[in-house]
Amino acid sequence: MGKRNTLIAGNWKMHTTVVDGCRLAMEIAKACADYPDREVLLAPPFTILSEVSHVLKDSEIIVGCQNVCWEEQGAFTGEISPVMIKDAGAVAAIVGHSERRQIFGETDELINKRVKGAVKFGLLTILCIGETLDEREKGHTFEVLENQTRKGLAGVAAEEMARVVIAYEPVWAIGTGKTASKEQAQEAHAFIRGVLGQIYEKTIAEQTRILYGGSVKPTNVDELMAQPDIDGALVGGAALDAESFGRIVNFK
Ligand code: PGA
Repeated sequence: MGKRNTLIAGNWKMHTTVVDGCRLAMEIAKACADYPDREVLLAPPFTILSEVSHVLKDSEIIVGCQNVCWEEQGAFTGEISPVMIKDAGAVAAIVGHSERRQIFGETDELINKRVKGAVKFGLLTILCIGETLDEREKGHTFEVLENQTRKGLAGVAAEEMARVVIAYEPVWAIGTGKTASKEQAQEAHAFIRGVLGQIYEKTIAEQTRILYGGSVKPTNVDELMAQPDIDGALVGGAALDAESFGRIVNFK
């Protein structure tokens, strides 16, 4: 492969205030400075997007948010528009994270609106999908992944796919310390790429980056990234520690 540009994204979730977020961003910029061939993205909370974007303005690291509305402005209490995201210096958005789905009840239909809005306004859009433990144990993994992929991307045109990244995050591996084995992850990624090939053309499927997420750590990143269909990582816990995140970005 080797044609897809690796993306390592750090999702800070609901962590960090201005001072510690800016400090962490600076430390991460230092830890990642030697690896300009890998795209690195940090997704801090909305409240510090501007500050973190400012801190990173001279680095290669790009900034994204963790959720986004589909409208430019209006009566959407509690939501943040893609235009506001860009105004804060961010260029990317994570959409459909399993915590949004599970804790806040976001459906595939709602997530699809977010994806379309983010793409329309030019944000690099990371659509998260993944099965729960129950779904895996019942043998429904592929059905769930196909459904979430098809519904999440409904109405997204082939030419917009250049701005879309898929993140495969098995829910049972998020924040649990349990990682999918490299074989399980590769199998899921290859399956998702096959679904993309059915929705779009093979070339689009080949060009779309599919990240793995779920307890990615310095100790397991190398074997995961060596898989042919794994094009990067979406990192939660380990992205809150500059040394760990730097090591993940510098996977071998
Ligand atoms: P984790 O989180 O790395 O802490 O498992 C990943 C994610 O939720 O994106």
